[in-house]
Amino acid sequence: MRVLVPGGAGFIGSHTCLALLEKGYEITVIDSYINSHKKSLQRVVDILKRNNKVQNIDIDIEIADIRDEMVLDKLFLRYKDLGKPIQAVIHFAGRKSVKESVLNPLLYWDVNVNGSINLLRVMDKYNCRTIVFSSSATIYAPTDGIPLKEDTLIKPISPYGRTKVAIEQILNDTYNIPLEKWKIANLRYFNPIGAHYSGMIGEAPIGIPSNIFPYITQVAAGLLDELTIFGKDWPTFDGTCIRDYIHVMDLAEGHIATLEYLNNFEEKIINLNLGTGLGTSVLELIDTFEQVNNIKISRNFSSRRIGDSCKVIADNYLALSCLNWSPKRDLKDMCLDGWKWQSLNLKGYE
Ligand code: UFG
Repeated sequence: MRVLVPGGAGFIGSHTCLALLEKGYEITVIDSYINSHKKSLQRVVDILKRNNKVQNIDIDIEIADIRDEMVLDKLFLRYKDLGKPIQAVIHFAGRKSVKESVLNPLLYWDVNVNGSINLLRVMDKYNCRTIVFSSSATIYAPTDGIPLKEDTLIKPISPYGRTKVAIEQILNDTYNIPLEKWKIANLRYFNPIGAHYSGMIGEAPIGIPSNIFPYITQVAAGLLDELTIFGKDWPTFDGTCIRDYIHVMDLAEGHIATLEYLNNFEEKIINLNLGTGLGTSVLELIDTFEQVNNIKISRNFSSRRIGDSCKVIADNYLALSCLNWSPKRDLKDMCLDGWKWQSLNLKGYE
């Protein structure tokens, strides 16, 4: 089965490409490399060659933007003509910085929403009607720590979050096109961190990281002086925010389980939370990182960051019950693997 992976060179995308190839899928990645690195997919191939587990590594890479409908059309046509049509899409392509989306909302609506519309239009034209979409837990209204279920109120506070909601709505309308049979999954990610255990692929943010985990690894590596913790007066047991961190390989494997789940149906639409269901405070994350890696992380406290929620934890019951999947790696694995990646690749893929 050939799967198209828009945005497959990015952090979650590259780990999912690895998991797909390990499972014998044939993949075509389309990526603009605007926020990713071409070396990531070369490393994916290197890992597979080193492990010697996959007979035929079938990965095709197209450097392009999904807003370019002509490119997408040609791609689908090429595989159709080869008699091996693209049968499913795992759609990662998009901008993902909350802060940048506030400064440049039009860019976010253009890339994320227009890009997705193009993709769906071309998929429809070529009768490819299975899609797994990268959505986000950021779309939910805060619940004061009650684990978020898929039917929790949707109320994003950033343009980034609103583009995710818009795409989910477009997918919902697409599902309802009369006489067409679509299979659609919106995967709402919690906080993916860590890296593949090989340390060969991982998160490589451009510039100073805004997420906590790459910030911690860069402090550990001596690239940044100290971590600023945003707030110590949150109503939690230690005063810092709580998040549901999930190992990026567990998240990657969740995509394949979702694809396999969708294939059991003639038509289907589902929203699924992908998280561990476990909450970890900022201080607990730092402590675990320090302990397993035996490194001190210098830190200071500042006031709360605008837009942060106190506790964001998944209710992952639906994913656990529908998919042949559960997260297998714990916080220690996330901290060990994430540090291995950073320490072996001080400047990411550069
Ligand atoms: N934090 C710090 N210092 C930092 C960075 C973060 O203390 O330098 C804290 C934040 O205040 C928060 C926690 O670490 O309490 C996690 O922050 P991140 O920025 O790593 O992650 P968020 O939970 O804010 O957001 C992430 C993704 C979003 C996604 C969301 C889903 O960045 O894209 O999870 O819940 F939408």
